[in-house]
Amino acid sequence: MKFFIDTANIDEIKEAHSMGMVDGVTTNPTLIAREGRNFEEIITDICEIVDGPISAEVIGLKTEEMVTEARVLAAIHKNIVIKIPMTVDGLKAARILTDEGIKTNVTLVFSPLQALMAAKAGATYVSPFVGRLDDLSQDGLLLVEQIVEIYNNYAYDTEIIVASVRNPLHILESAMMGADIATIPFDVLGKLAAHPMTDKGLKAFLKDWEKRKK
Ligand code: G3P
Repeated sequence: MKFFIDTANIDEIKEAHSMGMVDGVTTNPTLIAREGRNFEEIITDICEIVDGPISAEVIGLKTEEMVTEARVLAAIHKNIVIKIPMTVDGLKAARILTDEGIKTNVTLVFSPLQALMAAKAGATYVSPFVGRLDDLSQDGLLLVEQIVEIYNNYAYDTEIIVASVRNPLHILESAMMGADIATIPFDVLGKLAAHPMTDKGLKAFLKDWEKRKK
């Protein structure tokens, strides 16, 4: 399973990258706005740290606006992936950009049929939002399971990025289902590595080591 980091924070990206855990980065307008810096500058900085797919989201709602923005963003670096909202205009933009050889990530996906349409539009990636479905008492992971099955049924190349990840179980269950990628907030990445028995065992080892005959 590929791990992307879901942040626009350069310090977090550097730290996760030094752990060897970053195969790519996803950003969104909220994450970019949180940094209080120029969009293109942030994306350029990220591209210098991580050699993998970097998702940058368009703001326009009309196909033509999305395509125009996408071409500018895609010119920043070869690794840029254009994140496009799952709307009819977004699907049209995904088809145009795919045909131009620009990679796309269709985002804000909340149903398996939206994911099917994204694949048919030629999207490189699709981003189902598990946490936001869970927030509505709907089963976010069921959505991932359904998309995996549909894509397998028809051998679509579109890769599934499990997004809106809130906890380690989202990643465990998605990995068991065979989702291609999880895009993980920095704090959740730390939780994956941690186990109280690891800490307890290490403490005991060090205590015994101190007691050894020197
Ligand atoms: O970047 C898309 C997604 O991962 C956002 O997650 O936590 O805002 O629902 P969240």
